[in-house]
Amino acid sequence: MQLPISLSLLALVQLVPQVAAWGAAGHEIVADIAQMHLFPSAREALCSVLPDYAKCQLGPVAAWADKIKYRNRWSSELHYVNGIGDHPGNHCVFGEEGWMGKPGINLLGGIRNTTDWMKDGKPGAEEALKFFVHFLGDMHMPLHLTGRAKGGNGISVKWNRRTVKFHGVWDGMLIAKEIRETPYKYENPLPNPQVESALRGAIYDPYIRQIIWEGVLNEWADEVQEWTQCPSSFEDVPNFYPEYAGSEFRTQPGQIPLNALRASSPKVPPTDDATVCPFTWGQPIHALNCEIVWPRELNSDNPPHIELDTPEYSGKLKKQKIVMKLLAMGGVRMAAVLNEIFADPEEVAALQMGRVLDLKVWM
Ligand SMILES: *[C@@H]1O[C@H](CO)[C@@H](O)[C@H](O)[C@H]1NC(C)=O
Repeated sequence: MQLPISLSLLALVQLVPQVAAWGAAGHEIVADIAQMHLFPSAREALCSVLPDYAKCQLGPVAAWADKIKYRNRWSSELHYVNGIGDHPGNHCVFGEEGWMGKPGINLLGGIRNTTDWMKDGKPGAEEALKFFVHFLGDMHMPLHLTGRAKGGNGISVKWNRRTVKFHGVWDGMLIAKEIRETPYKYENPLPNPQVESALRGAIYDPYIRQIIWEGVLNEWADEVQEWTQCPSSFEDVPNFYPEYAGSEFRTQPGQIPLNALRASSPKVPPTDDATVCPFTWGQPIHALNCEIVWPRELNSDNPPHIELDTPEYSGKLKKQKIVMKLLAMGGVRMAAVLNEIFADPEEVAALQMGRVLDLKVWM
């Protein structure tokens, strides 16, 4: 039967395998890693905030914000932040000269806003949570922190000889490759029940097990609680957010006043406090753009379409576990913030673990 063109096109589009985007697999992996680091009381409290279809888990809502981005235009600017003057890999500038766009309307502001929204327990907590889970993921994708060529969307490269957007390599292809190449042994469950109960039968479950087993429980075990820390003083950091100087970030009536920390230290960036510090956390992620993310060949104004699935690029990133570590950091930090807002303080005090559940302790 001859299908009308529009219909057959539609069928074709549906057949093309969905490239796993940071918008899907990456975001869900980060959320699943967060789920296993939640304290039991936070896990329970989040159940009543999450929509029913999520079945008390963060993973199913992680990609929601990308799906509604085109209907809700206002939210699309919250998925990235672009420092003025930033041009990786030649030179990386993260806010020293201010930010593009409207003050506070960017990824850092979105994380600040949704955190406060959940904390204040205002109506709309479900929406705020869904945005928050997504934004924490975006923040751990280095190209969401730079405006050069729209975060690499305007630059073509090659991946397995196919021409693709540079941004797409980071959104999906690097992760898809690592998922495909996960050692077979990670098909088997880990001995940690809190890890296994957070997994949802996804194609990337083995990859998450690898991240946890090799990274979180071994290579990075001593750093994990450090990832969650926000500095208590910003004295050493020069001149943030010049356009905010003297202005208050949150000025709407009914919103909580600047916290004591920020009041005592005028240089504290308006997005950062002791609960969540997207600027502080974002700085070293943004710096990766100059260190390893933008290949030297892309430094010129008219870069050639270079192949990136090579030992020198994708191979090096994999060897250094760059992508794995970003996904892990995103998950751990997400859990830290949610624990602080939703966990029972008595339980937190009794556990004596820091801001996230220690996966070495089985419970
Ligand atoms: C802050 O978050 C809430 C909850 O998701 C949202 O409705 C609101 O539009 C956000 N405001 C800004 C300025 O991002």
